[in-house]
Amino acid sequence: MCGIFGCIIKEGAAAPLIHQSLKRLEYRGYDSVGEATIHEGKLHIKKDSGKIDEVHKIRNLDDLPGNIGIGHTRWATHGAPLMVNAHPHVDCEGQIAVVHNGIVENFAELKLELEGKGHVFQSRTDTEVIAHLIEENLKNNPSLSLAEVVIETLRRIEGSYAIAVISPKEPDKIICARNESPLVVGLGENALYCASDIPAFLPLTNKAVIIEDGELVTLSLEGIEIRKIATSSLVMREPKIIDWTPEMAVKHGYPHFMLKEIHEQPVCLRNTLRLQEHYLDLMTTFLDRAREVFLVACGTSYHACLAASYMFSKLAFLVTYPVIASEFVEQHGKSVNIDSTILAVSQSGETADTLAAVNAARQRAATILGLTNVIGSTLTRVSRVYISQQSGPEIGVAATKTFTSQLAVLAQLALRLAKKRGKVSQDEMDFIEAKLKKLPEIVEAVVKNQEEKVKDIAKKYRDAKVFFFLGRGISTATAYEGRLKLMEIAYVPSIAFPAGESKHGPISLVEQGFPVIFICPKDETHKTVIGNIMEMKARGATIIAVIEEGDEEVKRLADDYVEIPKGVPDVLSPIPFVIPLQLLAYYMALERGYDPDKPRNLAKSVTVK
Ligand code: M6R
Repeated sequence: MCGIFGCIIKEGAAAPLIHQSLKRLEYRGYDSVGEATIHEGKLHIKKDSGKIDEVHKIRNLDDLPGNIGIGHTRWATHGAPLMVNAHPHVDCEGQIAVVHNGIVENFAELKLELEGKGHVFQSRTDTEVIAHLIEENLKNNPSLSLAEVVIETLRRIEGSYAIAVISPKEPDKIICARNESPLVVGLGENALYCASDIPAFLPLTNKAVIIEDGELVTLSLEGIEIRKIATSSLVMREPKIIDWTPEMAVKHGYPHFMLKEIHEQPVCLRNTLRLQEHYLDLMTTFLDRAREVFLVACGTSYHACLAASYMFSKLAFLVTYPVIASEFVEQHGKSVNIDSTILAVSQSGETADTLAAVNAARQRAATILGLTNVIGSTLTRVSRVYISQQSGPEIGVAATKTFTSQLAVLAQLALRLAKKRGKVSQDEMDFIEAKLKKLPEIVEAVVKNQEEKVKDIAKKYRDAKVFFFLGRGISTATAYEGRLKLMEIAYVPSIAFPAGESKHGPISLVEQGFPVIFICPKDETHKTVIGNIMEMKARGATIIAVIEEGDEEVKRLADDYVEIPKGVPDVLSPIPFVIPLQLLAYYMALERGYDPDKPRNLAKSVTVK
C-alpha cells in the first residue's frame, strides 16, 4: 500500500507541494520516498530509502525545478527498501518516470521479454517494467500520444495499479490510471492533482473526481480527460465536493482506523493472493525438508500460527508446533538444532519476543523463515526466506487486516505443500483453491451484511462482565483471536477455550445469562459443537453464535447469531469467521466509551521483552 501523488500548477514550483502532499500520504507507507519533476525539457529526480523527513533532511526534496511532477511514498512489496528500489522508476533513456501503487502480477514475464529486447533494469521492483514497456511501445508507435501509449502498455499489465507517468516528450501532462488501487483527481483553481487518496490534496482543494477501475486520466492545465483503458472511449464525470475534515480524510471517512482496516480486508486479501509464486515455492521447499517446524509468534500473529498448524496438518500432513514466542526458549530452546525450522510470524517484524526466539534458534543453527508485513524489518534480515503479507500499514493497535492476510499466506503455503506431497486429491485442492480466490468477496459480504447485526449485539451485551469464546478444531484459533480483540479494545475480561475443554473446568463459571460466543462453521466439528452449546444452555448460558448461512439447527439454539456465507472449507474458515468478532470488539469499545484506536497500556509494536 504505497502512496502516489502528482501535480501540475500554473505558477510556482511543484516539488514543495509534492513533498507536503506525500507527508499527508505517509500513513500508506514510509520506507522510501521519491519525486520527479520536468523542467526545461528534462526529468529531475530525487529519491532514497527512509522516512520522508529523514530523506528531506539529507536530499532537500523541495529544490527540484519545474511546475509539474510526481511523487511516491513506499511500502515495499517487491525489492527491499533501498534507494534503487524507491520510486519514481525510469526507462533506459530517462525519458519516462513512473510512480505506482499496487502489484504487477506478470512483471517477471514482461521483464524477461523486455530484457530480451535490450532493456536494462536498475531495480528489483515490479514497477520498473511499466516504464520500460512504455518506452518500448513509444519506440514502436512514435505517432501515438503519451496517453495512447500508456493505454497500450496497461492493456498488457496484469494485477493492481494506480500509476502516474510524466515525460519531457509531453512536458505539460500527467497520465494516471487505476486498476484495483485507489486513485483520485483534485481540481484546484490553477492546479490539478492526482493522488492515492483525498487527504493528499484536501488542504489545496475539496473538488475531487473519483477514478474507477480500468480508467486512464490525462491531466493538463486545460483540464482532465478520462478514458476507458479497454476501449479508449471517453468517460464524463462530475467532480464531488468533499466535506471531510483532514482527520476524517486520512481515515477515509471512517471514525477510526480500526474500522477502516476491518473494511479494507477484501482489498488486502486480494493483494495477499497475488504473492510471488517463487517465494511461496521456496518456503514450501524448506517446510517440506524440515524435520520439525515451530510456528513462533505473539498475540494475534500467534493465533494465525495456531490456525496454520491445523492447515498444515489437514492439507499437507505436516506436524507443526505453534509456540508463543516468549515461551519458546524455555520450552524448546535446548532441543532446537540444525534440523529444526522456525517459521516466525510477525506483522511488524520487530516484536522483541519473536526476535529473541528467532535469535536463540539461529544460534543453534536452525533454519529461520519469516512471514511479516514489513519488508526491511529485522525479521526479514534474519530470515533465510521471508514472505511479505501485503497488508499495507496497519495503524489501529488491534491487528485486524494483518491477521486475515497472515492466514491467507499460511493457507497458500499449506496448499502448496499439500500439492508437493501429493496428500490431497486434485478435486479437493481445486475446491479449496477456488474458495481461497473467493475469500475477498466472502469477507466483503460479511462486512456489508453483518455489521448492523453485530452493532445491535454490542448494544445488547454492552454491560456484560465477561464472555466465553468457544470453538473446536481450527475455530479454536478464531475463538482465541475474538477474545483477544474484545479484551484489548473493549476491556471486557474474556475467556477462550477449545469447546471440548470447557467442561474440564471453565464451565463452572457459567450461570444464568452468562454470554458464550460459539464459532460454528459447518465442518466436521459441527455436531460436537452443538453438544457443547447444549451443555452451556443447560446451565443458563446466553448463546451468541457465528454460523454458516442457513444453519437452522444452531439458529434454534442461539439467542443471537451472525451468518457467514455457505461453503467455506474448514481450513479457510477463520478468515471470514473472525470478521464479526473484530466488529464486535470495535462496537463494544464504542458502546463502553473507549477509543478503539488507542487502547490503554498497549503499543502497536512491542519491542521490549
Ligand atoms: O507485530 P507482531 O505481529 O509481531 O505483533 C504481535 C502482537 O504484539 C500483536 O499481535 C498484538 O497482540 C496486537 N495488539 C493484537 O491486536
